[in-house]
Amino acid sequence: MQIQQGLIQVLLYEKDGFHSILGFTPLILRWLLHVQEEGAAATLVLQFQETLHALALLLGQFAKKVTHTLQGHIIAVEIEAQREDPSPSPAPHLPSTMCSFRPCWACCCLLLFFSLEVQGSPKPPSAAPEQVHLSYSGEPGSMTVTWTTWVPVPSEVQYGLQPSGPLPFQARGTFSPFVDGGILRRKLYIHRVSLQGLLPGVQYVYRCGSAQGWSRRFRFQALKNGPHWSPRLAVFGDLGADNPRALPRLRRDTQQGMYDAVLHVGDFAYNMDQDNARVGDRFMKLIEPVAASLPYMTCPGNHEERYNFSNYKARFSMPGNTEGLWYSWDLGPAHIISFSTEVYFFLHYGRHLVERQFHWLESDLQKANKNRAVRPWIITMGHRPMYCSNADLDDCTWHESKVRKGLRGKFYGLEDLFYKYGVDLELWAHEHSYERLWPIYNYQVLNGSQEMPYTHPRGPVHIITGSAQGCEELLTPFTLFPRPWSALRVKEYGYTRLHILNGTHVHIQQVSDDQDGKIVDDVWVVRPLLGRTMYL
Ligand SMILES: [Fe+2]
Repeated sequence: MQIQQGLIQVLLYEKDGFHSILGFTPLILRWLLHVQEEGAAATLVLQFQETLHALALLLGQFAKKVTHTLQGHIIAVEIEAQREDPSPSPAPHLPSTMCSFRPCWACCCLLLFFSLEVQGSPKPPSAAPEQVHLSYSGEPGSMTVTWTTWVPVPSEVQYGLQPSGPLPFQARGTFSPFVDGGILRRKLYIHRVSLQGLLPGVQYVYRCGSAQGWSRRFRFQALKNGPHWSPRLAVFGDLGADNPRALPRLRRDTQQGMYDAVLHVGDFAYNMDQDNARVGDRFMKLIEPVAASLPYMTCPGNHEERYNFSNYKARFSMPGNTEGLWYSWDLGPAHIISFSTEVYFFLHYGRHLVERQFHWLESDLQKANKNRAVRPWIITMGHRPMYCSNADLDDCTWHESKVRKGLRGKFYGLEDLFYKYGVDLELWAHEHSYERLWPIYNYQVLNGSQEMPYTHPRGPVHIITGSAQGCEELLTPFTLFPRPWSALRVKEYGYTRLHILNGTHVHIQQVSDDQDGKIVDDVWVVRPLLGRTMYL
């Protein structure tokens, strides 16, 4: 197999999942230079331009085992490091971007991405829709259909009421190109079509695409209008593209009509930008059986950060004009607010985002409270929790977590804001476990009563549900002893069912995938219709 020329991007993986981009060809060579003798690295330069076989042989000079696979234009080379003992020899002088690298890693994996002309012809770009998913714009009687093609073609949805036969209704939309930030600069075309005037609660059949290619048919039920119905939601965060534990059951639940919508509380695919965004493509295809049948509502997590959250913003179609970073919508008796905890952590994308989002949240909460008699429940979803009792060093384990107390412990903290406006339920993820807190404000447990803590609670209820999982990420352990404000901790894969029964009663259940769907948490939150706008 001949390799002619091209650039190499290197991703270096530790066993625990940490990864960092080391850089391109010159950096690899500089690294090799320090690990091996100068001659070997020099030889690598020459041989690399000739054959893959020679490259593998050369890598083999300093590795225990080298394997490589070819997928399209991607060559993945796995290297098991030769030295396993942490040698006391002085560390070589490495470039600053590589200072975390230690040659004593037991196992590492180099993925070499060649933007080069490897022999073999790629598949022609496809006009057939893929990665079909739904979202709700917040406008009653609407549903947005989003999908991907690899060439610019028209965006059309045909829909109707009959499972087979002609689809009499048509809606047209637009597409926009999305260029991933990876080295291959892969270009996707994201299509969006808004269906309007849907009859509430009626089941529709649809397909999307154009004359150049159509999707298969999917079904969905239009959301009911008004506050007087009982929405059922699947809620989870941290769902990966590889071996996603919760997905088979979610798919079955969806086919059985158990839910009206999904809330995915950040962290998708691990990560959508990975492998030049191919992981994002794979993830979006994987969730299609769920997301093409239910509005799949999202918020961004830390794993969406690359290239300024561009994969997240491009692939999903959330309400409002903030590309899904924050928005709110009404569902039955609830007002649901989705926001980005990530603005507090990735300040290089704009410190002003913290302030803008905070002011938007306050204004949205004020409007929601004016409408509280109609939609009594205010539910928030954000990725990183304010509190958690996991045994890691995440933000939520610190007493003054950024999400809770804000920047520098005093600017734009969310706990005071949510408490002030009487938020009922706060949904979080990020920690790969399930944890339910007692009603809480500023570390004070504010149970309704000792016998019925969640009936007339005097502070918001927090649920952390980040154990849907997949990929190399594992469950997060808890501290040995629960915190006084922690009501229940479950270290099992699973997801949460949220049933908003009416204006006063909400039912929360946690499903364990480790225990074949067993319900491992079951609690009702009850609040009176009056006096919801603030906690007394
Ligand atoms: Fe996360």
